[in-house]
Amino acid sequence: MKTRITEIFKIKYPIIQGGLAYLAYAELAAAVSNAGALGQITAMSLESPEALRNEILKVRNLTNKPFGVNFAIGQYNRPFEQMVEVAIEEKVEVISVTGGNPKGVLEMVKGHPIKTLVLVAAKRQAQKAEELGADAVIVVGHEGGGHLGRSDTGTIVLTPKVVDSVSIPVVASGGIVDGRGLMAGLALGAEGIEMGTRFIATKECVHAHPVYKQAILDADENATVVIKRSLGAPARAIKNSWTDKILELEEKEVGYEGLKEYISGRANRNYIYDGKADLGFGWVGQGALGIQDLPTVQELIDRMMIEAEEVKNKWSM
Ligand SMILES: Cc1cc2nc3c(=O)[nH]c(=O)nc-3n(C[C@H](O)[C@H](O)[C@H](O)COP(=O)(O)O)c2cc1C
Repeated sequence: MKTRITEIFKIKYPIIQGGLAYLAYAELAAAVSNAGALGQITAMSLESPEALRNEILKVRNLTNKPFGVNFAIGQYNRPFEQMVEVAIEEKVEVISVTGGNPKGVLEMVKGHPIKTLVLVAAKRQAQKAEELGADAVIVVGHEGGGHLGRSDTGTIVLTPKVVDSVSIPVVASGGIVDGRGLMAGLALGAEGIEMGTRFIATKECVHAHPVYKQAILDADENATVVIKRSLGAPARAIKNSWTDKILELEEKEVGYEGLKEYISGRANRNYIYDGKADLGFGWVGQGALGIQDLPTVQELIDRMMIEAEEVKNKWSM
């Protein structure tokens, strides 16, 4: 399965593991890269530039395949430049950027042998990323887990629109959990797909508490909600009494000050690390509905390729 994405990022399959705050560390990233896709570690979940350097070295010990470092630059109150510097010094193959203007990161990376991915949720953002020199864009639809675009536009609508508006390759993301989703993304004109939620429900996502993984397995059509809309930063999480409280506070227009304790990294970790089901929140996408098991990453990717082949065979009938 060759596309410009497999060529540019030197991967066997056009599948990318999305940045996952507090979850995407060396074990997961290396497992994904070893399985022929692109694994990533999430820089902003690490305490310091030196912690990032150590995590990069840890991945290098676990795989000799390319991997990426994800920078969610808008969501954390700390400078990211030193961390980008570390990624450049350690010669990581790929840097992805989300949550803010990617200009600064792309300028820092320019001239280095590093490929860049920018996450977008609208046609204009994709065109801007192309103008700034990104190698590819990832378009994230409203089904996705974690932070979303403000427009509520789903993956099936957004992907072809973005594909038609840029000449760099596009990766489809949001709601994709299997080989059918991979083929759907390709049919929409994307040249690869990104998954977040599906990779949480794997054996190598060792930081995710069993309660969190079980909530993904148990998800039905009403299992997720979008919170933080009132802050202009909509994000999809598993619905629980904590997110009910957040929505109630948002309804009362309490603003950031009134919400900060509820949407903090601490509240996030209460749920995803400690399994405190009603004392915090966990990002989950609507795709959880299609997740029924906790395979290894290798089993997941192998199965996706079989499913993709099955779709292809049906198409050729
Ligand atoms: C738990 C969680 C944490 C996330 N953290 C980040 C992050 O730090 N950086 C980022 O670029 N995207 C982040 N995302 C978004 C994912 O990388 C990806 O775009 C999204 O999960 C795709 O939708 P899906 O969950 O339906 O696969 C996160 C998503 C989840 C579910």
